[in-house]
Amino acid sequence: MFLIHSELPWWQSAVIYQIYPWSFQDSNGDGIGDLPGITSRLDYLKGTPDSLGIDAIWLSPIYPSPMHDFGYDVMDYCDIDPRFGTLADFDRLTSEAHRRGIRIVMDLVLNHTSDQHPWFLESRSSRTSAKRDWYYWADGKSAHRPPNNWAARFGGSAWTQDRQTGQYYLHSFLREQPDLNWTNPAVRDALFGVVRFWLERGVDGFRLDAINWLGKDTNWPNNPRRLAWRSYYRQVHRYDRDQPQAHEALRALRAFVKDRPETVFVGEASSDTPGGPAAFYGTGSDELHEVFDFRLLRSPWQPDAFRRLILESDRAVPLGGWPPVVFSNHDQSRHIDRYGKGGDPVRRARAAALLLFTLRGTPFVYYGEELGLRDGTLGRSDLRDPYTIRYWPWKKGRDPARTPMPWDAELQAGFTTGKPWLPLSRDWRETNVAHEQWDAGSMLSLYKRLIRLKKESNALTAGTYQPVDAGPKECVLYQRIFQAGSRTEAMLIAVNFSSQVQTVSIPTTVPMHGRVGTVTLSTDAKRETERWNAERFQMGPDEGIVVRLE
Ligand code: NOJ
Repeated sequence: MFLIHSELPWWQSAVIYQIYPWSFQDSNGDGIGDLPGITSRLDYLKGTPDSLGIDAIWLSPIYPSPMHDFGYDVMDYCDIDPRFGTLADFDRLTSEAHRRGIRIVMDLVLNHTSDQHPWFLESRSSRTSAKRDWYYWADGKSAHRPPNNWAARFGGSAWTQDRQTGQYYLHSFLREQPDLNWTNPAVRDALFGVVRFWLERGVDGFRLDAINWLGKDTNWPNNPRRLAWRSYYRQVHRYDRDQPQAHEALRALRAFVKDRPETVFVGEASSDTPGGPAAFYGTGSDELHEVFDFRLLRSPWQPDAFRRLILESDRAVPLGGWPPVVFSNHDQSRHIDRYGKGGDPVRRARAAALLLFTLRGTPFVYYGEELGLRDGTLGRSDLRDPYTIRYWPWKKGRDPARTPMPWDAELQAGFTTGKPWLPLSRDWRETNVAHEQWDAGSMLSLYKRLIRLKKESNALTAGTYQPVDAGPKECVLYQRIFQAGSRTEAMLIAVNFSSQVQTVSIPTTVPMHGRVGTVTLSTDAKRETERWNAERFQMGPDEGIVVRLE
């Protein structure tokens, strides 16, 4: 084996684990997860032979916040919300994580603050306040008509009239989340100061929230209308998003950290941003390192769609950029439920796991998905997220994917000694870490095996992605190929999207790195070490395999 991992920037060979701090581990019995809780569970993630083996954690926001949007409404960028602990707890978490080789990626919300942030309180205090132009203020069209028709992502108008001055302020999400004015250099400097603050505290990177929202057309033109079901999509977001300022801001940010080239920026952009999310790589080396592409996440479990979307998103990434691979996060129903519709959710989630760790890119694991944790079944009175409440019961919303991490079958699944802030998911007695830890057939064991396999393989970590065009259409096939000098490592991956046995045969006209090999991993009962031949091989229902080609 010729190892080149060390030559890659750390984030290209990393597996990143998203922790939703509310739900990972409570240490003080208040029913809400916290930083000491996360620190106490680090061995689960890395550092012992039985750990999952991830390389970095992305912490959803832990800043002081009134929690209208569960931390995405920041009140102070340089402190920790008391629900989660203190800066000292954060420092302890960082040093304990680093000791185990786990990096820390902070969530950073650049587009908006909380309406309780001192900047906004000052800004709204008078038309002549020194911070008035830190946010967007405009006069209404008439007494009670907002400046234009812009719609907020979470429903309703994007403008709210403020009693104190009679003007309207802009908020692209909730009214409690006023948008920052990115044309103001003072705003930029303040937020770059925040980046510096956390880098000096030892963080290794940032997940940047809603980056295509930075900057607006401040002539305030109406967005063009179009037909759609949901109000937000009844207009083309031509003037309230996707402005050139977003790219300028990201270029400036990247330049700002050039003395720390190890820092990673992973950005979240809307799928329908012009040019696709990949536009935020810039040239490949001047904007973001990684940009989420949610098209696969939104896709049904359908082989043609996956074949097309995998190729499109892989090819969209310019040289120098690197794709993240993500199927679940805190904003969506968990993929075991989404992809599982109309089929066997567990078997499909196992096949999806194989894709997650064998596609080209950095796998992002959303806490609990490695256990096969399902969406919570919540009643109206359980809900906490305003967006979920607004659209319930028409839309499942976000709370079902945010239920506590089940650690064992003891009281409250080992998450808290108190009453959990959201109910435990229904199957926590079987779907929990203690239950799955020593079961070779569990989802957790599969995730561990896949992570190990990826780490040992240059092809799976750094190789190119090459689709393999062969039938039947129910199976998605591709190769990952890594070449260094005269040496090559090649893997064939095959995933059966159907619940029937499929016989595959790859025509000799299809360029393959090798036509024989050995199965190194299967999502099914043990097939490892089985000989494999491209001429003809069988795939079990929903099965995924990785073959080392010779
Ligand atoms: C995207 C975040 O992932 C989501 O949770 C949040 O509500 C919005 N951005 C607004 O910050």
